[in-house]
Amino acid sequence: MSSTPPKATVSHLKASTETVTSVHYWTEKLLSFRTTRPAAYQFTPGQFARLGVVAGDETLWRAYSVTSAVTEDELEYFLVQVPGGLFTEQLKDLKPGDPILLEKFSYGFMTADRFADGEDLWMLATGTGLGPFISILQDPAVWKKFRNLILVHCVRNADELAYQELLSKLHLRPELAAGGARLQLLRSTTRDTQPPAAGNLQGRITTLLTGGDLEAAAGLAITAEASRVMMCGNPEMITATRDILYQRGLRPCRRAVPGQFVTEDYW
Ligand SMILES: Cc1cc2nc3c(=O)[nH]c(=O)nc-3n(C[C@H](O)[C@H](O)[C@H](O)COP(=O)(O)OP(=O)(O)OC[C@H]3O[C@@H](n4cnc5c(N)ncnc54)[C@H](O)[C@@H]3O)c2cc1C
Ligand SMILES: NC(=O)c1ccc[n+]([C@@H]2O[C@H](COP(=O)([O-])OP(=O)(O)OC[C@H]3O[C@@H](n4cnc5c(N)ncnc54)[C@H](OP(=O)(O)O)[C@@H]3O)[C@@H](O)[C@H]2O)c1
Repeated sequence: MSSTPPKATVSHLKASTETVTSVHYWTEKLLSFRTTRPAAYQFTPGQFARLGVVAGDETLWRAYSVTSAVTEDELEYFLVQVPGGLFTEQLKDLKPGDPILLEKFSYGFMTADRFADGEDLWMLATGTGLGPFISILQDPAVWKKFRNLILVHCVRNADELAYQELLSKLHLRPELAAGGARLQLLRSTTRDTQPPAAGNLQGRITTLLTGGDLEAAAGLAITAEASRVMMCGNPEMITATRDILYQRGLRPCRRAVPGQFVTEDYW
């Protein structure tokens, strides 16, 4: 199901002005930033916010997945500076204290509650498509709902494998560990000239799926019975992965029909 809203401007009455509280650069063009959060702002892990910046006489709006946990006082986002991108060009010198507009509502259907059942939750991300899974993986309900959590992050170069420290320590949080799930972190690079670091994979998610490498690395088969899959990021990856899953008997979740996969296209 596509949840992409139009890139239309909306009245400021539908938005609040928040303040940037911190900015962290993972690479020259890949960053996370945090902002204040209105007391009334609610979201489900996996959803996205609509942020606004004023550029001349215009207010530009774009969608960004929330990476922070629902319990946090601030909101966090993970994004890439797109060369020549209208919105991200405005964020080039983003710093604490800067204002940013936030639409009052959260959006999106790539949430774990879409799945009626299933044992293994596969989260497939390219690039900044990792963002929603950072929030989802900090949700105790997800650790309780599934037996295995498998996060696959595929990037061009190894320095784009963000959030590794946070991810590698999630299983140590008592409120998550109490759920009983096992988290596996699978990382892959596609353009590094050096061989991948020990334990990392090489190649696109689609190639690793068709070749069986992801299942071999996780020690789990992808089946309609056991597997539930979330895909986020590059729309071409999502289209191709949908086809692969379809051939294996997995179907998209529809409003009233339980299925085995949900997606979020970033463009
Ligand atoms: C539901 C939803 C959630 C999103 N969440 C995020 C997020 O959490 N983080 C994030 O960085 N972006 C996210 N995006 C994309 C974001 O809304 C903007 O489109 C993006 O930041 C570029 O905006 P721009 O105006 O600078 O460039 P635009 O002119 O809007 O985009 C130009 C081109 O940049 C490429 N592009 C856009 N976004 C990305 C990306 N994330 N990674 C690689 N290439 C990209 C595409 O080829 C696109 O056509 C999301 C989009 C949608 C629809
Ligand atoms: N996408 C482009 O063609 C392109 C070109 C120039 C600049 N840029 C800009 O560079 C910035 C960084 O982008 P990004 O690297 O974060 O995002 P990205 O281009 O979506 O790449 C992220 C990962 O997704 C993989 N991928 C791309 N297309 C796929 C497909 N059809 N099926 C399966 N996997 C696929 C990439 O593999 P590969 O390395 O094999 O592609 C890469 O490992 C963005 O600002 C983007 O606009 C993009």
